[in-house]
Amino acid sequence: MRGAATLALAFLAFLRSVIAEDYLVSRQLHQGHVKRADSFNISIYHVNDIHAHLDEIKTSGTDCVNATQGCYGGYARIKGVVDAKRPSSNNSLFLNLGDEFQGTLYYSFYGGEKIADTINQLGFDAMTLGNHEFDQGENFLGNFIKNVTVPILCANINSKEQTINSTVKPYKVFPQFKTAVIAVTTDTVPSISNPSEDTVFSDPIATAQYWADYVYEHEKVERVIAMTHIGYKIDIELAKKTRGIHMIVGGHSHTLLGDMAGAQGKYPTIETNLDGDEVFIVTAWRYGVYLGYIDVEFSGQKVLSYTGGPILLDNTTQQDTKLNKQIKDWRGPFEEFAAVVVGTTDVELDQSTCQMKECTLGNVMCDAMLDARANQSHVDGCIINAGGIRATIDAGNITRGEVLTAFPFGNSLTELKFTGEELWKVWEGLVAGVSQFNGQKTTSFAQVSKGIRVTYNPENEAGKRLINLEIGQGAELKTVDLKKEYTIVTLDFLAGGGDNIFPAVKEIVALDTQAEILTAYVETHSPIKTGVEGRIVETDKTKPVVPGSSNGAQAVVRSAWMPAALCMGVLLSLAL
Ligand SMILES: *[C@@H]1O[C@H](CO)[C@@H](O)[C@H](O)[C@H]1NC(C)=O
Ligand SMILES: *[C@@H]1O[C@H](CO)[C@@H](O)[C@H](O)[C@H]1NC(C)=O
Ligand SMILES: *[C@@H]1O[C@H](CO)[C@@H](O)[C@H](O)[C@H]1NC(C)=O
Ligand SMILES: *[C@@H]1O[C@H](CO)[C@@H](O)[C@H](O)[C@H]1NC(C)=O
Ligand SMILES: *[C@@H]1O[C@H](CO)[C@@H](O)[C@H](O)[C@H]1NC(C)=O
Ligand SMILES: *[C@@H]1O[C@H](CO)[C@@H](O)[C@H](O)[C@H]1NC(C)=O
Ligand SMILES: *[C@@H]1O[C@H](CO)[C@@H](O)[C@H](O)[C@H]1NC(C)=O
Ligand SMILES: *[C@@H]1O[C@H](CO)[C@@H](O)[C@H](O)[C@H]1NC(C)=O
Repeated sequence: MRGAATLALAFLAFLRSVIAEDYLVSRQLHQGHVKRADSFNISIYHVNDIHAHLDEIKTSGTDCVNATQGCYGGYARIKGVVDAKRPSSNNSLFLNLGDEFQGTLYYSFYGGEKIADTINQLGFDAMTLGNHEFDQGENFLGNFIKNVTVPILCANINSKEQTINSTVKPYKVFPQFKTAVIAVTTDTVPSISNPSEDTVFSDPIATAQYWADYVYEHEKVERVIAMTHIGYKIDIELAKKTRGIHMIVGGHSHTLLGDMAGAQGKYPTIETNLDGDEVFIVTAWRYGVYLGYIDVEFSGQKVLSYTGGPILLDNTTQQDTKLNKQIKDWRGPFEEFAAVVVGTTDVELDQSTCQMKECTLGNVMCDAMLDARANQSHVDGCIINAGGIRATIDAGNITRGEVLTAFPFGNSLTELKFTGEELWKVWEGLVAGVSQFNGQKTTSFAQVSKGIRVTYNPENEAGKRLINLEIGQGAELKTVDLKKEYTIVTLDFLAGGGDNIFPAVKEIVALDTQAEILTAYVETHSPIKTGVEGRIVETDKTKPVVPGSSNGAQAVVRSAWMPAALCMGVLLSLAL
């Protein structure tokens, strides 16, 4: 995928500047409010959102098939580093912040089995549940939990499923450290995963405060560490709106923190709580490319100082040989799995023209994505990048392997909301090749679902090429209303600013992967007969259809001539 390649290049550039361990002294210590004599030091190692990437990967998250292009992450490297480093500190915790499920064949093929086997070998002190742990319902999760020897913590669920109920605890006390670890997950699980009504999720912030108060009162602890799977933004809220929690180790939003290019914040991010005390927040991106590592010095409840930073796991990192061999061996049966026929198509699902015009594989993929969300939310249409569509699927049987080859990136569905005006800009950006949001190149063409029609004149000046953008599910297509809000299903990669199609959003809620969605769709819609049906149309008309109101139309046209100064403003705000 061109977009992925661009991101990978940016990534390679920052790998060269190896992350220096940082040191910072808290305000309390600096101002001499606390004495260092009775301080307590602890090393915290953490991983989050591994998403079944047991084996090493390319930076895009797909299988590392060519070592000379660089291989990252993998549990064998995580184990290699943790086993080597941990013995050098007297006090340490190794925490797993959830979303072990969903993302590679280790999960699609083996379910939770190999994930459980792996994490049991790592020496985690605790794990919390991510939203994806509920993707196949509570019984599935319960069976996974039965095989896991790591203590599983999650304070803000109340589940009737027996194993979950009897195994998952709100917190764990580490008496030797006089420390309690309290865990919470996102309360959005019901809308982004598949729990039944048997599991109720409560507000993570109020719940964390409740249990923090509880452990200070009922347990012999001097400090509380929160393990969260609520995303960076809510971690910051949690820090600001509570008392007694001075350290938050998080996951969920795939947020990169540190000094490296592309980082979205500092590692740790320091916020101030209701008592005016500092709270340290850390998280470690996704897929195990980094191992989170921080040494924290506490005085009583409060954090005084830290050293550490995320550790990049690349091909210079030592791997645990035994675990590496095991993980590689588990690949064996994939080939057989990949040969399974999932359905048939009467037409060739063409990829070769997707970068230039409407293509059949783009149509089918986007229709599958729309179909996947139809029962759960109101979605107006689907937009995906052409660059993520990698191989044509011939007419005839469709195998799992073909689906995975066509959509190998493990990109996940996500929903974004846009006004009609923003969508107009998105599409003008795509047909002009220049984003109307930041003035930079768009790095891929796009494909759409049924219910969207794009009409453009490639001969018009860039910035004025879009002639009409129509949307309408079930009913007739209508020119977009500039003021109305539409919900678009797209990919996490694009939501993060990939291919420069949409303005980057900081918080991404990743749903099922594309390959899984297409497989399910093919299973239920065979034989596929979708053709090229006029979803993306070239015209020789030169004037845009006035979308909504004439004022709105002018606003759109004016945005194409955005003054340079305004452009710079947009760029700067994106850079922050
Ligand atoms: C904790 O770490 C700090 C900074 O590295 C050090 O100055 C201090 O002596 C340590 N405290 C203890 C009790 O080991
Ligand atoms: C691996 O990648 C390198 C560098 O991009 C390339 O020269 C080489 O041909 C690739 N090897 C294989 C087997 O694809
Ligand atoms: C390690 O990765 C780099 C790229 O990051 C590559 O140039 C190098 O060849 C790799 N080394 C090995 C031994 O695979
Ligand atoms: C670990 O504990 C021992 C014994 O209390 C002490 O001598 C040593 O300095 C400690 N090491 C670290 C890294 O704090
Ligand atoms: C639990 O472990 C057993 C033994 O390794 C394995 O056969 C089974 O598939 C595992 N179940 C799950 C849900 O991981
Ligand atoms: C187990 O069930 C009890 C009673 O309904 C409930 O209070 C508790 O929160 C449940 N525990 C979990 C981990 O779901
Ligand atoms: C949506 O709901 C209908 C009716 O219950 C069902 O037949 C269909 O399989 C569901 N689709 C998906 C993608 O879950
Ligand atoms: C298509 O798949 C079916 C079922 O797996 C199989 O019986 C058939 O031989 C396959 N056809 C071709 C042409 O491979």
